[in-house]
Amino acid sequence: MILPIRAYGDPVLRKECKEIDADYPGLTELIDNMMETMDESNGVGLAAPQIGRDIRLFVIDSSHMYDDEGKGMRKVFINAEILDEYNDEWVFEEGCLSIPHIRENVSRNGTIKMRYQDEDFVEHEEEFDGMTARVIQHEYDHIEGVLFIDHITPLKRRLIKGKLTDISKGRISVDYRMKFPKK
Ligand code: NI
Repeated sequence: MILPIRAYGDPVLRKECKEIDADYPGLTELIDNMMETMDESNGVGLAAPQIGRDIRLFVIDSSHMYDDEGKGMRKVFINAEILDEYNDEWVFEEGCLSIPHIRENVSRNGTIKMRYQDEDFVEHEEEFDGMTARVIQHEYDHIEGVLFIDHITPLKRRLIKGKLTDISKGRISVDYRMKFPKK
């Protein structure tokens, strides 16, 4: 099932999300729906707050970010923690399904060390780098209530203020399902 994606301005996007356990109701179906919603909107990642749930869950599919087949990964992250970030920061132009039509350069560390649980609640400790790390860092921000536009300069933020207001009021057109905050 395709879930509507919450737009910028929705308070759920600013929540620090809660951990979940294996008893979380309907989790398997929720993960399936999030994957389907990510694919349908051509996203490379989707975090639970973006579909209205303030829980520490996100999905990624970084394979579209690589030219080489077999690179990148499709993965579920539950109760993720970034344990460490290192290697030189690099800049990449990011976007977000909750903030359509805006792309800005964001600087992030090259490598991350993560602890997370998979969809079977098996715990992993793993390093990621390249585009996969980038996508994880963006989605991880979401479960902390942080958006990529929080990483840009105040000047750039001022320049997109009008566009952000338009998004929060639903004055945009997108080719995937969105839910705009009530004003
Ligand atoms: Ni996003």
